[in-house]
Amino acid sequence: MRADSKPLRIGIAGLGTVAGGVVALLRNNADALARRAGRPLSLVRVASRSPKPEVDLNGAAFTTDLNALHEPDIDVVVELIGGEDRAAELMRRALQGRQAVVTANKAVLARHGGELLGLAQTQGVALGFEAAVAGGIPVIGALTRGLAANRVQMVAGIINGTSNYILTAMSQHGASFQAALSQAQAQGFAEADPTYDVEGTDAAHKLAILAALAFDMDFRFAAVYTEGISGITKEDLGYAEELGYRLKHLAIARQGEGGVEARVHPTLVPESSLLAGVSGVMNAVWIDGEGIGPTLYYGAGAGAMPTASAVVADLIAIARGDALACCTGAKQQAVLPIERVVSAFYLRIPSRDAPGVFAEVAAVLGRHGISIEGAIQRQGAVRSGDGGESWVPIIILTAPVAEGAMAAALQQVQEMPEVVGDITRIRVERGLT
Ligand SMILES: NC(=O)c1ccc[n+]([C@@H]2O[C@H](COP(=O)([O-])OP(=O)(O)OC[C@H]3O[C@@H](n4cnc5c(N)ncnc54)[C@H](OP(=O)(O)O)[C@@H]3O)[C@@H](O)[C@H]2O)c1
Repeated sequence: MRADSKPLRIGIAGLGTVAGGVVALLRNNADALARRAGRPLSLVRVASRSPKPEVDLNGAAFTTDLNALHEPDIDVVVELIGGEDRAAELMRRALQGRQAVVTANKAVLARHGGELLGLAQTQGVALGFEAAVAGGIPVIGALTRGLAANRVQMVAGIINGTSNYILTAMSQHGASFQAALSQAQAQGFAEADPTYDVEGTDAAHKLAILAALAFDMDFRFAAVYTEGISGITKEDLGYAEELGYRLKHLAIARQGEGGVEARVHPTLVPESSLLAGVSGVMNAVWIDGEGIGPTLYYGAGAGAMPTASAVVADLIAIARGDALACCTGAKQQAVLPIERVVSAFYLRIPSRDAPGVFAEVAAVLGRHGISIEGAIQRQGAVRSGDGGESWVPIIILTAPVAEGAMAAALQQVQEMPEVVGDITRIRVERGLT
């Protein structure tokens, strides 16, 4: 470090979970950070809704006025208030005033990332968002730097720790969805209102960011097809395992014919695939590039210190002057409608326990060009239906087929008088090895 190196002057918006971690890292690791950054990282001011005297700000000022972050004594605004409108406004104002911005806010980036990166480029300042996807795992850096020489073909990730925790508890301990969710809430891994996590919105925000970087396209959150895990049953997890698969909530972006697939949904992956072994709250992102082949990034996807680690890494890059004001939106890429996406399927069809039903289901699927690759139909699985009737689940694994064809076939199967309840349909992804 040069003796005359000017400190990088930092202002933080928010003083919650992640901001607390950032403050602690800046305070406790100051010497090491200064060596790596080539100059001191100096926390000047923290602006947040309520004071927290118990947090040691290491001499930095505290204010409840977010506008105080746009003073000329601050070089970088770190946005950690969360939410959308106020956070987006804060970032816009900082960039317009030629302050660099670091954020962990995937919700804002998924919707306004193109606009904010464009503004950063025009203003010649950095916008860092390593913390917005997969917490401490440097996957944004992997896409924008380490893998930048490659044409990316596919990104597939377990990028919501809450959903992965719930599915792991259901699979390993036989818990119901509701019991696993309550357990996640009791352990602090799920919010009191878990909708964003369990219905897939959080993962869709992150996928919109990953797809934009991987495929040089705009941030297209509204075009991401999204299904959560709230409809998953222990029964489906059990059948999946019998068939040699594990059920994961995957976010997938893939270069397809005529556009990019961008989808978030429960997915069966072969038990031999690397993603099958990612359990609990851990995250992992699998990136397949034309030159490099498959690569995998694994680690803690959330929490104060993992997320703060990514925020501070962005601050170090800005201090060194090597932060990217990168790099998306150059290509006009269509996002393929889900009807055009091709994948294999797991089907669970509750049907009357009568001869010939399986053959009839197979015939309907066959008429739509869908082949069956595996099935489970067991005598012992007979249950008593609502009307006192006995029924069996027919479990089928199909060959890859376009969603549109599958939807048309399932509509016909659902209308068969022998089918006594709603058909469960889960996509299967076999290429992740
Ligand atoms: N937590 C994680 O593990 C994690 C991981 C990855 C990304 N992120 C992202 O990081 C961001 C922050 O998350 P967090 O978990 O740290 O949230 P948090 O614990 O709720 O902290 C938010 C902080 O911002 C303050 N705040 C909120 N709205 C404000 C406003 N309008 N004006 C002034 N202050 C305001 C809050 O004040 P009060 O103290 O008065 O509530 C609180 O101190 C979010 O975008 C989140 O998605 C979080």
